[in-house]
Amino acid sequence: MAGEWHVRLVPQLPNAELIALCDIVPAKAQAALDKNKLPAIPIYSDMAEMLKKEQIDVVHVAIPSGAHMDTIIMAMEAGKNVISEKPLEIQLDRIDRMVETAQRCGVKLAGIFQNRWNPANRALKQAAIEGRYGRIAWAGCFTPWYRADKYYEDGGWRGTWKLDGGGAIMNQSVHAIDLLQWIVGPVKQVSAYASSRIHAKIEVEDTLSCSLQFENGAFGTIMGTTAMYPGGPVRIEVGGENGTACTEWSLKTWKFREERPEDKDMIERINGKQGASTGGGSSAADVPADFHALNIHHILSSWEAGKEADTCGSEARKAVAIILAMYESAKNNGKPVAVKQ
Ligand SMILES: NC(=O)c1ccc[n+]([C@@H]2O[C@H](COP(=O)([O-])OP(=O)(O)OC[C@H]3O[C@@H](n4cnc5c(N)ncnc54)[C@H](O)[C@@H]3O)[C@@H](O)[C@H]2O)c1
Repeated sequence: MAGEWHVRLVPQLPNAELIALCDIVPAKAQAALDKNKLPAIPIYSDMAEMLKKEQIDVVHVAIPSGAHMDTIIMAMEAGKNVISEKPLEIQLDRIDRMVETAQRCGVKLAGIFQNRWNPANRALKQAAIEGRYGRIAWAGCFTPWYRADKYYEDGGWRGTWKLDGGGAIMNQSVHAIDLLQWIVGPVKQVSAYASSRIHAKIEVEDTLSCSLQFENGAFGTIMGTTAMYPGGPVRIEVGGENGTACTEWSLKTWKFREERPEDKDMIERINGKQGASTGGGSSAADVPADFHALNIHHILSSWEAGKEADTCGSEARKAVAIILAMYESAKNNGKPVAVKQ
């Protein structure tokens, strides 16, 4: 799924060219080219061979999450920069090894968190940078999604601890959790409950509910599920002494004590740019590609300018640290767990 988006988008970018594809099932790589009516390029089933034979600057990794590290380290040790799909990996020690390898090999590593390029979410972030909320009282993210059993059956790796690293939270809510910590700041401590409510065959949670405290003292909530038919948009809400703002894919609430002239039509201006979408709520296919393109373009442009991308390895680690703390808490019946920064 996600690999096909990269195959489609890379040729559309001004600063990139699609050179080769690799999939352990080469027919899937061919199908991605065919679907996008792209000309033939070399397809490999063995990445080591691809790295040896092709002139590549950047490897895009869109394989099962728990298999990211081996592939990413192999690419970096061959001198390639890497853009990885979310989550960067499913354990912090594995992410740390990847970040260390990038430094040792003198290459760059970045993750995809495309919803940071959604203008509605960027507005919430900008308000935080400008201190417009004042002292934040509470902030939360809700991912009320739905996935049918077939979604977990396809591919064989989804819904497993080993390769998905978790369920509704590690795979789906990771986007909203990244946005929450990006906008509000580091999470200090979490207390969570989780289980699979409707998907009988998966090992991992399809629903989690968490209460938390940020390092800045604000309280918060994280809810994520793939068990709420038919699935709706992610909600991000931040509020404090001087204002409240909220997105549900588009901008829903924008109210500040000190109103600026540009606040008046902010919702119309931001939402005018947005296409209709559940943003992945009802199906993994309903993820518009535009923000992916912006995220990839930003990463490549940052690297060209000799800078780290906003979604560099250490940044993409933050959401995973929060998620793993929530899993530990849920295993211990909601016991408060400190987030390992
Ligand atoms: N950013 C997003 O919104 C988004 C959406 C969906 C998936 N993803 C992420 O993308 C990654 C892939 O998820 P998906 O749903 O596209 O999976 P998928 O099962 O649809 O595709 C995975 C592909 O990887 C291939 N593969 C497996 N192991 C491989 C290996 N070692 N080397 C080469 N090819 C290999 C498989 O044959 C398959 O074609 C995951 O990390 C997932 O979290 C991100």
